[in-house]
Amino acid sequence: IDELLSEGVAGRRVFVRADLNVPLDGTTITDDGRIRAVVPTVRALAEAGARVVVASHLGRPKGTPDPAFSLAPAAARLGELLGADVAFATDTVGESATATVDGLADGQVAVIENLRFNAGETSKDDAERGAFADRLAALADAYVGDGFGAVHRKHASVFDLPARLPHYAGYLIATEVGVLRKLTDDVKRPYVVALGGAKVSDKLAVIDQLLGKADRILIGGGMAYTFLKAQGHEIGTSLVQEDQVPAVREYLERAGKNGVELLVPVDTLVAAEFPDMKSKAPADPATVAADAMPAGRMGLDIGPATSALYASKLADAGTVFWNGPMGVFEHPDYAEGTKAVAQALIDSPGFTVVGGGDSAAAVRTLGFDEQAFGHISTGGGASLEYLEGKTLPGLAALED
Ligand code: 3PG
Repeated sequence: IDELLSEGVAGRRVFVRADLNVPLDGTTITDDGRIRAVVPTVRALAEAGARVVVASHLGRPKGTPDPAFSLAPAAARLGELLGADVAFATDTVGESATATVDGLADGQVAVIENLRFNAGETSKDDAERGAFADRLAALADAYVGDGFGAVHRKHASVFDLPARLPHYAGYLIATEVGVLRKLTDDVKRPYVVALGGAKVSDKLAVIDQLLGKADRILIGGGMAYTFLKAQGHEIGTSLVQEDQVPAVREYLERAGKNGVELLVPVDTLVAAEFPDMKSKAPADPATVAADAMPAGRMGLDIGPATSALYASKLADAGTVFWNGPMGVFEHPDYAEGTKAVAQALIDSPGFTVVGGGDSAAAVRTLGFDEQAFGHISTGGGASLEYLEGKTLPGLAALED
């Protein structure tokens, strides 16, 4: 982007592909981290006199307009953060978008509606995606990729559009890639990775890679129960991905052979049912050993012995990557495991990276100071796929 700024952008229409995919409760944004993350790029362009067209997806609408997924709240928040009026187009490439962009004065910013309201954005068909990218290209003179959270998606605005315009990386993407490179190229050891979240299937490929790179892998969250099942333990009614059990068993064996410590919970909090997330009524969970879970109970957080064990494994880390909460942290009775891991990252002397929408939102909503971490990534799937060593379409499109 510095190259673009030095060329001069006054009066030029610059398309900024951001990731404004923020969690919403109705129309209330519950965590605005991703919007704040793109402000430096948008501000720099606006201050240099560009006519800035910001675009993003939000949620997973089905290729047609759906008010529940409107970007209007995100546009309003961006305006507040910039301290400026931000225009909003109620479509992506239609009359509203054209008129809104045509109406921009130098230094003004517009947000166009959710890109996924057009089926061309996510289409697997190159021609359909290309046709949508052509229409987006007509709105701009230059492209800045800054939606790090979406760079793993081969979507029209991420992959096809940059090929149609002079293209540049924004500040956020440059920062994110700079940080993740530290984890792949010259990692300081011990390299400790904490993985949580609901689904093992989302994390299998990264675990596969890490079994050759990390020194310790700490498993928590809903996916921990698939590991406990693979070890032959009773897991009651806990979340499990039965079809992943053989792969997990193989990983547990391979970790031993590779000298990687792959740790699973030694105790867990259990209850008869999933907590009421609306009332947040006390759930009164019991703590049980992970190899003695009662039938008919579900595990909802790592237990205190596991929290202490994981904290000890993080205490001397040279580098930490953490993705995925350790339990149902949104309920106060099941937040302790996630809090303990967050605190252990803060106390760790090493370079700490929090990756992923959920874990980033967790550290903020649980009241931790963002500055206490080395880096909080805006990318969930994107940061995992980067660590898997995959080519990310949105980065490849900017690199040529
Ligand atoms: C994310 O939340 O990880 C990104 O915004 C990408 O969203 P997606 O998984 O719906 O493509």
